[in-house]
Amino acid sequence: MTQEELFKKLIAHCKEYGFVFQSSEIYDGLSAVYDYGQNGVELKNNIRRYWWEAMTRLNENIVGIDAAIFMHPQTWVASGHVGAFNDPLIDNKDSKKRYRADVLIEDWIAKIEDKINKEVEKAAKRFGDSFDETMFRQTNPRVLENQAKIDEVNKRMVAALEANELAEVKKIIEDCEITCPISGSRNWTDVRQFNLMFDTKLGSVTDEANTIYLRPETAQGIFVNYLNVQKTGRMKIPFGIAQVGKAFRNEIVARQFIFRMREFEQMEMQFFVRPGEEMKWYEFWMEKRMRWHKSMGLGDEKYRFHKHEKLAHYANAASDIEFKFPFGFKEVEGIHSRTDFDLSSHQKHSGKKLQYFDPETNESYVPYVVETSIGLDRTFLLILSSAYTEEKLTKEDGSVDERVVLKIPAALAPVKLAIFPLVKKDGLPEMARKIMDDLKFDFACQYEEKDTIGKRYRRHDAIGTPFCITIDHQTLEDETVTIRYRDTMEQERVPASKLREIMAEKVSISSLLKQI
Ligand code: GAP
Repeated sequence: MTQEELFKKLIAHCKEYGFVFQSSEIYDGLSAVYDYGQNGVELKNNIRRYWWEAMTRLNENIVGIDAAIFMHPQTWVASGHVGAFNDPLIDNKDSKKRYRADVLIEDWIAKIEDKINKEVEKAAKRFGDSFDETMFRQTNPRVLENQAKIDEVNKRMVAALEANELAEVKKIIEDCEITCPISGSRNWTDVRQFNLMFDTKLGSVTDEANTIYLRPETAQGIFVNYLNVQKTGRMKIPFGIAQVGKAFRNEIVARQFIFRMREFEQMEMQFFVRPGEEMKWYEFWMEKRMRWHKSMGLGDEKYRFHKHEKLAHYANAASDIEFKFPFGFKEVEGIHSRTDFDLSSHQKHSGKKLQYFDPETNESYVPYVVETSIGLDRTFLLILSSAYTEEKLTKEDGSVDERVVLKIPAALAPVKLAIFPLVKKDGLPEMARKIMDDLKFDFACQYEEKDTIGKRYRRHDAIGTPFCITIDHQTLEDETVTIRYRDTMEQERVPASKLREIMAEKVSISSLLKQI
């Protein structure tokens, strides 16, 4: 199965099993807007909780807030979003499709990188153990030629975007002979800037002065509240403020399911530090955030850092944590050293002092900020895309069966235990209900009595339930039950009274938190 096929199957699976639905589907949907179903919302809540507790509970100097989505319009002037939160877009005149110009160029670069990687793979096979990849990359003429092309185009693109030279961006697209993936033609419009913020009107008067924006990032809600929190919480630098909430962007290219949406959720933390110490904290948070990701056990090799060449208007250093999605390595989290840009700018625009008095140095200053910003929906997608597994099973009679199983980390699974009476009679349902009534205060449980046990297992494999408990006639005699483990499909007989203890360690968020 190709990665593309796998991704299509995952999208279908998300719908079939109540994880993600297209928004307003009965009206043919709304582009790049999605709803989370009964299982999706549980998984999303668990991820959110895992992040929240990792930030606020494990760090004594980080507290949370929940700021409003609507903010004073000056906020977005100060933050630079009104002036600079733009994407360069270009249309193909034949297909009438709209693209982000920089993404077209990046896709072209990725294709050349692919060529280089194929060259390296071929050579590795030819030379076997004696192959020296570094040496090969430094000396092979074809690799060098392609790398030089990439470097040149990258340099031109970064310079053109930084200088806002849109004609040069178009020239790069022409020079690279980039064609529209739909029409195959090179009939392009000029490149234009497009502001990504959604606006709306406050109150009943619809004049320009009442225009407000749906926040494109949650961070500004933290910046404008930083002194409120610092003073009321008696926080001392370095300290952090965490927040989870919706953000909105009118994305030009909305694709890859919930990877790029127009309404999405961010989990952001701003860490306020002494000016000059920001690089130390930037490194610290890069490492710490990577540990959070890896603690989920999805495979360390699926993560990497990507250092930004082109920095956002507010940053003096920035890196992404990228994950290997079915469509390649893509950003899931950004770690940005945002200097004092935001606070200084809010200070200027609001006329209010946003300085911190440092009792250790007896100085007042505007703190520098290191930000960690992760997409909740992207984290959801990365977990599901790595969890989705199709397995062939050989039955005792030699016939082959198949199952689709979501190997979601147990602590994040929407349902932790499924409880099944073997049959719907002989007092087994009553016994199963009794066990469930005891466990439901601690774990997300589901009771199921319909269909064969095999079918019930398959249904719970498909939503990632890590443990299925079967209550049979022996349970009535000795109060033991069978636990069936999702990943190994092994079964174990244990006393019902031990279930809480057995489950607790495996499915609690604290089991993940301890690994960070
Ligand atoms: N405050 C900094 C900030 O917003 P960003 O890199 O633009 O930085 C941070 O966004 C994270 O938010 C991204 O790494 C991604 O996970 C998520 N994100 C951004 N745009 C998104 C979109 N259109 N759909 C889903 N997630 C998105």
